[in-house]
Amino acid sequence: MASSPIKILAISGSLRQSSFNSAALRVAEELAGDGASFTFADLSGIPLYDQDLRDKHVPEAVQTLGNQVLDADAILFSTPEYNYSVSGVLKNAIDWLSRLDPQPFADKPVAVMSASMSAFGGARAQYDLRRILIYLDAHFVNKPEVMIAFAHQKFDDDGTLGDDDTRLFIGKLVTALGDWTRRLQG
Ligand code: FNR
Repeated sequence: MASSPIKILAISGSLRQSSFNSAALRVAEELAGDGASFTFADLSGIPLYDQDLRDKHVPEAVQTLGNQVLDADAILFSTPEYNYSVSGVLKNAIDWLSRLDPQPFADKPVAVMSASMSAFGGARAQYDLRRILIYLDAHFVNKPEVMIAFAHQKFDDDGTLGDDDTRLFIGKLVTALGDWTRRLQG
């Protein structure tokens, strides 16, 4: 009997309309087919973290994201690299969620990919994200490592990804995330 689709929350670290990272997540959804159902997080409404604000209440956009992480079987990030690290948008969202109770990333299967216009494909940001989420007790898929270098040469203006090798690796990562999730779920 075929196993039921896993629920994947896709989190892009870029707010940009034509973001290569958001496009990579849409490719992941396409390649997952019936094996997964995707929800796409929206980080645009999350305010800058302020402890005074947190002490008063949890903003709705933060609670929504926290609930989406809790509800998901697994998380798939795609992050740009900003000055050798993850984007401030992504770090800020993670900082907010880290102050929720329950802390939603705890025990969550996660995978990361990155897209950048440089030759490194955002590798340095990926390792920072792994380091950040170790502290929050998430469980990372180790391989394949999907770093989409020269992203501007691989994606069309409408976000279509024609590069076969990149599509292959994204597909393998989604499969690995599904396998990892089922293994952790027992
Ligand atoms: C960048 N970019 C970038 N690229 C890279 O490979 N390493 C880096 O350290 C940086 N630093 C950086 C800082 C800032 C503030 C910006 C705006 C950009 C370029 C970045 O990879 C490129 O803009 C990507 O297209 C961003 O991802 P999205 O928005 O297309 O998903």
